Amino acid sequence: MKFLITGGAGFIGGNYCHYVVKQYPNDEFVCLDALTYAGNLETLAPIMSAPNFRFVHGNICDQKLVFDLFEKEHFDYVINFAAESHVDRSIENPRIFLETNVLGTQVLMDACRKYGIRRYHQVSTDEVYGDLPLDRPDMLFTENTPLHASSPYSASKASADLLVMAYHRTFGLPCTISRCSNNYGPYQFPEKLIPLVIKLAIADEKVPVYGKGENVRDWLHVFDHCTAIDLIVRNGRDGQVYNIGGHNERSNIEVVRSILRQLNKPETLISHVTDRAGHDLRYAMDPAKLMEELNWKPKYTFDTGLGPTIQWNLDNQAWLNHVISGEYRRFMASNYGAK
Ligand code: NAD
Ligand code: TYD
Repeated sequence: MKFLITGGAGFIGGNYCHYVVKQYPNDEFVCLDALTYAGNLETLAPIMSAPNFRFVHGNICDQKLVFDLFEKEHFDYVINFAAESHVDRSIENPRIFLETNVLGTQVLMDACRKYGIRRYHQVSTDEVYGDLPLDRPDMLFTENTPLHASSPYSASKASADLLVMAYHRTFGLPCTISRCSNNYGPYQFPEKLIPLVIKLAIADEKVPVYGKGENVRDWLHVFDHCTAIDLIVRNGRDGQVYNIGGHNERSNIEVVRSILRQLNKPETLISHVTDRAGHDLRYAMDPAKLMEELNWKPKYTFDTGLGPTIQWNLDNQAWLNHVISGEYRRFMASNYGAK
């Protein structure tokens, strides 16, 4: 079988490539990535010379490039990780989010229709459901929770999900969608909460916590996200949405304190800064459908996954320093400068 993996030079797509290239030596994997500020070839270095892996530099919005690739390669499966993925950047500049996340999805699905595939899989997010109240721990997102996006990022991801379901119904496109909670683990770009806090704390710099830090996220180790997507792609049912999560809710301040504790750093590093506009209060996933239908079980809890993630960041300072481009510095100054 031949797989197209888009966005494979990013955090989750990169971890996915590492996993499947080793797990399935008889399948072929082609990674298509535009190498934006968030994509880095060093992430793919461990598998770059594997016989069943190939990297192609290109943008999923480029119809000619995408169609030519499909014509040449005859993919069986397409897994779309490629996206603009950071909420704060979507507040600063929504347009690129609509281009990549919505129009890029359309181009890929048009190629699937034209050249034929077994399945298109859309990697989506719990953020399409909006947020839950802080004082109702009994409430969880299910696959039937209405879409109710809060940020330009989540609105673009929700739009893409609607388009995927429309292509399924109108054109009979064989497809699945997965919606996962917040990920952490190796190779995460240090603009997201966990790698940012690790990076700043190691350097004894102030750690920015938006507002009081009481917002809650449901954390899943990226390895568990990858095994879930693999099961859904191979064994899920067409036209179905699957929630992915491991019941690991933590408030942001709890996450920051855990990292500081494990690094032996003082809590005086915490700096409460101006809150994010439209900040979602709480995410919490119900993964029962995935667990019951496809027998998925996560390997990590938050407590067993955080330590190795901190250690990975300590051991991979070279990777970290290389991914921090001029663009990263510009964004950090613009997002945090006024806070
Ligand atoms: P990321 O920002 O680390 O990586 C995105 C990758 O996509 C990069 O390699 C980038 O170069 C590439 N890319 C961006 N625009 C492109 C384009 N137009 N054409 C081709 N490649 C392009 O993102 P991530 O955190 O790995 O997220 C991957 C997917 O998982 C996204 O669809 C995201 O919405 C979803 N998701 C992320 C999380 C999370 O916690 N990070 C949780 C749930 C779902
Ligand atoms: P983030 O990693 O950006 O993921 P998302 O917004 O997709 O959930 O942020 C996780 C949480 O941490 C979110 O509630 C915002 C908060 N946060 C901070 O408090 N400080 C920061 O510097 C960042 C980047 C995030």
